[in-house]
Amino acid sequence: MTRKLYIRTFGCQMNEYDSDKMADVLHAAEGMTLTERPEDADVILFNTCSVREKAAERVFHDLGRVRALKAVRPELLIGVGGCVASQEGAAIVARAPYVDVVFGPQTLHRLPQLIERRRATGRAQVDVSFPEIEKFDRLPPPRVERASAYISIMEGCSKYCSFCVVPYTRGEEVSRPFDDVLTEVADLADQGVMELTLLGQNVNAYRGAQGNAGGVADLATLLEYIAEIPGVERIRYTTSHPKEMSARLIAAHGTIDKLVAQLHLPVQSGSDRILAAMKRGYTALEYKSIIRRLRAARPDISLSTDFIVGFPGETETDFAQTMNLVETVGFDGAFSFLYSARPGTPAAELRDEIPPAEKQARLMRLQALVDTQHGANSAAMVGTLQRVLVTGHAARDTRELCARAANNRVVNLAGAAQLIGSYVDVRITAALPHSLRGELAVL
Ligand code: SAM
Ligand code: F3S
Repeated sequence: MTRKLYIRTFGCQMNEYDSDKMADVLHAAEGMTLTERPEDADVILFNTCSVREKAAERVFHDLGRVRALKAVRPELLIGVGGCVASQEGAAIVARAPYVDVVFGPQTLHRLPQLIERRRATGRAQVDVSFPEIEKFDRLPPPRVERASAYISIMEGCSKYCSFCVVPYTRGEEVSRPFDDVLTEVADLADQGVMELTLLGQNVNAYRGAQGNAGGVADLATLLEYIAEIPGVERIRYTTSHPKEMSARLIAAHGTIDKLVAQLHLPVQSGSDRILAAMKRGYTALEYKSIIRRLRAARPDISLSTDFIVGFPGETETDFAQTMNLVETVGFDGAFSFLYSARPGTPAAELRDEIPPAEKQARLMRLQALVDTQHGANSAAMVGTLQRVLVTGHAARDTRELCARAANNRVVNLAGAAQLIGSYVDVRITAALPHSLRGELAVL
C-alpha cells in the first residue's frame, strides 16, 4: 500500500517551496503520496517558521495534538523541519520525545535517510546542519502540474537586520549555479510552465557561478537569459532587498517585457531613525530614489512592501513618516506586522516601551491606508484589458474560473475549464475588496 504523507506548513513562500520539495523527495524515495488528513498519514511533517510570534510554542502545541495519533498507531513517524527546527535542534526531541526526525531548511533532502535511520535504530534523528548548496544537487527534478511554478535560486540571508532570525536559521546567502538554474527553467518550460517566480530570501542578491565563462551572473543577467527560453511568458521574483536593487536590475524592468510590472520591495519603516536601528542599510530618501528610477524604467509598475510596526522606540513621529511613505510611493499592497522580539537577535535587547494597544492602533491605521490605495488602484482597473493566467476553478463558485493578473490580483470570470493553464485577455468589469471580476475579451 502506498504510504501517506501529511505536511503542515507555516510561514513564507520559501517554506511552501520547501514543503513541495519534502513531498518530492519522499515520493522519489518511497513512493509516498500526500494526504490532507493527518489521521491517514504514515509520516507527519511540520515545516515551521520562527520569524514572528511564539512560533516554537505553537509547534509544541500542535505536536501535542498529533501525539494522540501516535498513541493509537505507534508506527506513525513525526518530523519537525524549518526554522524552529533549525533554532531548537535536539531540544525539540528532549521536550517532545515522540518526535522522530528533526531537520533544517538545508537538510530536507536528507529526509529519506533520516527516516530510514530512525526506523533502523529506533532512535530520533536530528540534522540541522548547513551543508551549503548540497540540497539543490540532491533534489529530484521538479514535477509540474500547473502552468506556473516557483524556482528557488538562492537561499539564506547575510543582511542581519537587527530584528530578524533568518540569517541564523537559514544561514548566509548561497546562490545556485547559473547553468543549473537555466537548465531547470528550460525543463519547467518543456513541461508547460509559462509563468515563473524566482524565489530567494534576498533573491536580488543572487550571484550565480557561471560554469564555462568562470564569471558570476547577477539577477539582471539571469533574467535576461530566462526571458530567452522558449515557452516562458512571465517572470516574477521575490523577495528583494532595497540594497540589492542595482542600476542593472532597475534597467532590466524597462528592457525585459516578460518581467511583470510588479515588484515586492520590503521597506519596513519610513523613519530613518528606525531604519538605522533596524540596520536596514538605506534611508527613506534612498528607497524613494529606487522607486523613482524603477518608475522611470517601467511607468506602470505596481509596488508592494513589508512593514514592521512598533519597533522598539518607534514614536508617533516615526510612524507618521511611515504613513507618509505609503502615500508618496503609492504602495498597492503591504504585509504589515507587529514587531515581535526574536530571541538571539540584537533588537531583542532593546527596551520596548510602546503600549500594545498603541502598536495595534498604528497597525490598523497603516493597513487601512494601504487598503484604501489598493481599492483605488483596483477601481482604476475597471474597464481595462488585462492579460491573465487562468489558474483553476474559482474558490467560491467552482463553475467559474480564477486567474491571476500581472499585478497579482485574483480575477474571477466565466469560461470553459479548458482555459485553465493558459493566458487569456479579460476586460475587468468590477473591483471587489480582494478580487476583480472580468469577462473574456473579444479582440
Ligand atoms: N528579505 C526581506 C527584506 O528585504 O526585508 C525580508 C524577509 S523576512 C523573512 C519577511 C518579513 O518578515 C520582513 O520583511 C519583515 O517585515 C518581517 N519580520 C521579520 N522579522 C520580524 C520580527 N522580528 N517582527 C515582525 N516582523 C518581522
Ligand atoms: Fe531578515 Fe533582513 Fe534578511 S528582514 S531575511 S535579515 S534582509
